[in-house]
Amino acid sequence: MKEIVHMMYSEREIADRVDALAEQINRDYQGRPLRMICILNGSVFFFCELAKRLEIPVTLDFMSVSSYGNSTESSGRLKIRKDLDDRIEGVDCLLVEDIVDTGHTLFLLRPMLLERRPSSLRICALLDKAERREAEVAVDYTGFVIPDEFVVGYGLDYAQRYRNLPYIGRLEFLEDDPDA
Ligand code: IMP
Ligand code: MG
Repeated sequence: MKEIVHMMYSEREIADRVDALAEQINRDYQGRPLRMICILNGSVFFFCELAKRLEIPVTLDFMSVSSYGNSTESSGRLKIRKDLDDRIEGVDCLLVEDIVDTGHTLFLLRPMLLERRPSSLRICALLDKAERREAEVAVDYTGFVIPDEFVVGYGLDYAQRYRNLPYIGRLEFLEDDPDA
């Protein structure tokens, strides 16, 4: 099977949207220190671009999780592949995600982090496939709400490929041509 990428959001369009999100976050936190939490690997580019635009005192930490077994099961469990380096008790935290799809990942991750008693925990997602939601997740800052399409680029992958594209594109899967 072959794939083609169709551009959805250019590098410029993404940068403009990240500017606006950063402005909103700067305003909301009013100079208060913020711990940004990057959910690896998909959100790395978004995380860095957002962090560079914040004028409040920011610290960075990284975490990697994967959902167990059948992702369509709402009773799924989350495996922590890499945990945060630092404690978050009493700290204002912002979880930065590439995309919220069914919502299962954040539905499971959020309470796990809340048990560690941060002062606050907000969620920022570059993309939101709102119509795919199965588990309720309140996203505080959203880049773009997108239709139910598989997207790649700007950190997002298909089988670990395409993460390095500077733009976000929709992936079209082509049937193999039997005559080719
Ligand atoms: P959720 O638990 O269904 O919300 O899934 C979230 C995760 O699935 C994201 O962090 C992505 O890693 C992955 N994902 C969902 N949709 C896409 C997509 O269109 N392209 C690439 N990865 C996706
Ligand atoms: Mg992800």
